[in-house]
Amino acid sequence: MKKNIFTVLLALFFYLPFIKSQTAWLDKLNLSSMTCGWSTPQVDKSIDGNELSIAGEKFNNGIGTHSISTFLLNIDGKAKRFSAVVGLDDEANKQGSVEFYVLGDKKILWQSGVMRKGDLAKIIDVDISKVKKLGLLVTDAGDGLDYDHADWCNAKLEMSSKVDPKTLTAQIISKPYILTPPSPLKPQINGAKVFGVRPSHPFLYTIAATGKRPMTFAAENLPEGLSLDSKTGIITGKVDKKGNYEVKLIAKNSLGKAESNFKISVGSTICLTPPMGWNSWNCWAEAVDADKVKAAADAMIKTGLINHGWTYINIDDCWAIKPGSKDSLTSGLPRNKEGMINANKKFPDMPALTNYIHNKGLKIGIYSSPGPLTCADYTACYQHEQQDAERFAEWGFDYLKYDWCSYGNIAKDKTLETYEKPYQVMQDALNKVDRDIVYSLCQYGMGDVWKWGNDVGGNLWRTTGDINDSWTSMSGIGFNQAGHEKYSGPGHWNDPDMLVVGLVGWGPSLHPTRLTPDEQYTHISLWCLLDAPLLIGCDLSRIDKFTLNFLSNDEVLAVDQDPLGKQASRIYNEDGKQIWAKEMADGSKAVGLFYTGVESKAKDPADYFNWNKIPTKEKITLTASELGISGKFKVRDLWRQKDLGTFTDKFTTKVPYHGVVLVKVTPEK
Ligand code: GLA
Repeated sequence: MKKNIFTVLLALFFYLPFIKSQTAWLDKLNLSSMTCGWSTPQVDKSIDGNELSIAGEKFNNGIGTHSISTFLLNIDGKAKRFSAVVGLDDEANKQGSVEFYVLGDKKILWQSGVMRKGDLAKIIDVDISKVKKLGLLVTDAGDGLDYDHADWCNAKLEMSSKVDPKTLTAQIISKPYILTPPSPLKPQINGAKVFGVRPSHPFLYTIAATGKRPMTFAAENLPEGLSLDSKTGIITGKVDKKGNYEVKLIAKNSLGKAESNFKISVGSTICLTPPMGWNSWNCWAEAVDADKVKAAADAMIKTGLINHGWTYINIDDCWAIKPGSKDSLTSGLPRNKEGMINANKKFPDMPALTNYIHNKGLKIGIYSSPGPLTCADYTACYQHEQQDAERFAEWGFDYLKYDWCSYGNIAKDKTLETYEKPYQVMQDALNKVDRDIVYSLCQYGMGDVWKWGNDVGGNLWRTTGDINDSWTSMSGIGFNQAGHEKYSGPGHWNDPDMLVVGLVGWGPSLHPTRLTPDEQYTHISLWCLLDAPLLIGCDLSRIDKFTLNFLSNDEVLAVDQDPLGKQASRIYNEDGKQIWAKEMADGSKAVGLFYTGVESKAKDPADYFNWNKIPTKEKITLTASELGISGKFKVRDLWRQKDLGTFTDKFTTKVPYHGVVLVKVTPEK
C-alpha cells in the first residue's frame, strides 16, 4: 500500500508541471449569447466604444456591457476560478447604477452590491471548481436601465483542463428555418388597402404586386389628378377634391390577372396603415451616408421587398453638420445665411437623393430633434422649426422622425405641457408646408406619449427606449405593449421601435442579429399584431435568404396593414405563455400564441438564466371564449400560409421556445 502511494506521488511530481491550466479570457469567448439591455456588448471597450475606465482606472482588456446583461457559460466542472474587476464605466452619468452577480448552478457566488459612477472597481476572485454552469449577470439595481454602462474588466476563467474556450457558451443554437412559401408566379396584389393623402399635395403610391415579370398595371376609377405608369405601377399626381375614392387596382402578366380594391382617402388624415420601410440607424448609425441610403433603396427593389409593400427609406441621425467636429465630412456651417439647415458632406445633394428614391417608387424620410442638437450631437431644429419644415419639404422628404434628445436641456419641467410643446410647434410648422410628411414622434414614451401623441399631430410615437438585438430588449419592449392598444388606430400608431433582424450593429461594423430564428419570428409576428411601424434596421444590400423570406410573407404583413387598424390585445398571460389577438377588417382574428418562457419575470438573480435543459416546445391552447367567439372556427397558419382545419371551442398547438405560432381564426357562420 505504502509503495502504491509512493508511486502515485512520484508520478504526480513528474507530471504535474506538464498538466497546463489554461486561461479563458472572457473577451475571447463567443459572446453572441451575451444579452445586453441597450446596444451590444463591446470587446475591450465600454458599451459606448471608449477605453474601459472605472473610477479613473483604465483597463485594456474586458467587456463593456449594459444592464440588464446575462451570460451563461457551460463550465461542466472544468474550471477552477473566475476573476474580474467590475464597476460602472466612467462614461455613464449619475443616473447609472448596476449590480454585478456571479452565479454557479443557480447559487450566488459573488455579489457587488449597488455600484454607481465613481465607485472604485471591485475585485472578483471566486472558486468555481464544482460549478457546471456559470452565470454572469448585471442588473439595473432596481431603478431602470438609464446609463447602466457596466464593465467586466480583466475577466477570465482558470480552466483545470484543456478545453476550447469557444465551446463554453451555453447558448441555444438553432438554425434559421424558412416558413414562408415562395410568392406565386401569377400576379398577386399586396400591401395597404387604404391610402390617405391631403388635398393638392403630391401623391405617390406604388402598387405592390408579386408575380412573374413583365407585369402591366391598370387602375379603374382613379380620382382626377392622378395617373398611373402602367409599366411600373407607380401612381403620381395631386387630387384637389376631398373625398373617399374606391379604386380597383389591376396587375397582369402572361400567367393571369389580379384585382384588388383600394381606397384613396383625400382629407386631413395620412398614414392610414403603419409605415413600412427601412431606417439607417440600427445598421449604420453615425456611419450613414448618401450612398448607403441609395444602396438600401436599390436593394428594396432588387430583393423584391417593394412588391410586398415596403416603401420608406429613412435617414436617421447624422446627416446634418456636427458643431465642433474635427472630421471634414461632418464639420462646417450648420445653416446658410438665411438660416436654412445644411446637410454635411456625406449628403452632398439632398434633392438629388430624394429624387433618386422617388423615381424608384419609394419614399424617403429624414430625422431631427426639437433641441439644438440631435442625440448624436448634430445640428437640429430648435428655434428654426418653420425653416426646417420648409427645408425638408423643399428637399422632397415624406417622413420626419423628431427625436427629443437635447430638448431635455430646454425643457423646464416634466409636465404634460412641456412634453407636448416642442412636438406641437413642429406639427404647426409641418401643417404649413404643401407636402404630406409622416410625423414620427420619438421621445421614448415620456409622459405616456400614447395618450397625447395624436393630439399633437403625431402619426406614430415611440413608446419605449431604444431596442437592440437581444431577446431581453426585443421581448421586453414587445410584450410590454399590452394596454396601449386603445390609443392606436389609422393615422396614429404606437411605435415599439425598429426591427432588429439581419445584419445590424449601429455601424460601421455589422453582425448578424443575436435573436434566434424563433425570436425573429416572434419579433415580426408581435410587431404585426401591434400594428407597429415596420422599419427594417439591417443592411439591405447584404440581406440573407432567411431574413428576406420572413420579411416577404404577405399574409403576415397583412396583419400589420389591415385597414381596420385595431392593435392586438393580450388575452392570456400565464407561465411563460402569452396569447395576443387582433380584430381584422374581414371579421377574422389574427392570433399570436407565444412561448416566452418565464425568465422575463425574473425576480431573483438566478431567474435571469435558463439553467435547465430548455423545453424546445410547449403546448398552448386557445379557447373560442377567450376570443369572444363560440362554436366552430377555421384556423390558418399565417407563416406557413396553410389551413390547419376547422376546430370547435378550442385550438391547441405546440410553440417553440421564444417562438410563436401565428394564426388567422375565422368563425364559421
Ligand atoms: C435615439 C433614438 C434612436 C436613434 C438615435 C439617433 O437614441 O431613440 O432611435 O434615432 O437617437 O441618435
